[in-house]
Amino acid sequence: MTQLPAHPHFVTLEGGEGAGKTTVLQALRASLQDDGREVVCTREPGGTPLAERIRGLLLDPAHEPPAPETELLLMFAARAQHVRETILPALERGAWVLSDRFTDSSYAYQGGGRGLDAAFIAELERRVVGLQPGLTLLLDLGVGTGRERTRGREQEDPGNRPDRIEREHDDFFERVRAAFLARAAAEPGRIRVIDAARPAVAVAEEARALLQAWKAAQ
Ligand SMILES: Nc1ncnc2c1ncn2[C@@H]1O[C@H](COP(=O)(O)OP(=O)(O)OP(=O)(O)O)[C@@H](O)[C@H]1O
Ligand SMILES: [Mg+2]
Repeated sequence: MTQLPAHPHFVTLEGGEGAGKTTVLQALRASLQDDGREVVCTREPGGTPLAERIRGLLLDPAHEPPAPETELLLMFAARAQHVRETILPALERGAWVLSDRFTDSSYAYQGGGRGLDAAFIAELERRVVGLQPGLTLLLDLGVGTGRERTRGREQEDPGNRPDRIEREHDDFFERVRAAFLARAAAEPGRIRVIDAARPAVAVAEEARALLQAWKAAQ
């Protein structure tokens, strides 16, 4: 297991497609802002102009599918930029940083989903990223339910078409889910699992309570 320094004001949301990460992030942003501290909300892949360009390359279904190694290295190329340009400067000026996905997603998608070696990912994490979130909230949801939710989102907004990774099959997403849960079992202090099958208000309430407890413990 990696032993990287964790920053207490760095919080990440993880989980599969349609688990509710973006919905919960909005709820957490509002509750953190009550304290008057700056809150930076960001996402992966992305979070800087260059990293968002890399996101476009990663998620575009138009070109040939990237090799798993290409996908992994592009994810870490975007993350290297995100950490240096957005996350570390924000933490250094005292802000909270909430990120919609971070390195755990690489272990889940490129590791569990694509079958790349976790030791290789850990080496990239150590050399390229060099920090961990203090707290990670893992929204755990059955693959079928997540798919129904993203389909609902697409029906509301027909421009919201499935991206390249969203087009993967259920067995891919089952491996992603299992890899997330295995990481949570290995790092129970940092990664807290939330049952995301419940109504959005209940999920947001638990996420807020976990974040408040984390803040109080600092
Ligand atoms: N607990 C919930 N119960 C039912 N629907 C939900 C719940 N949470 C979010 N939704 C809805 O499900 C859809 C997916 O939610 P959201 O976009 O927050 O998921 P996500 O994890 O960010 O997905 P993605 O991985 O695609 O970014 C949205 O339409 C959202 O309104
Ligand atoms: Mg989202």
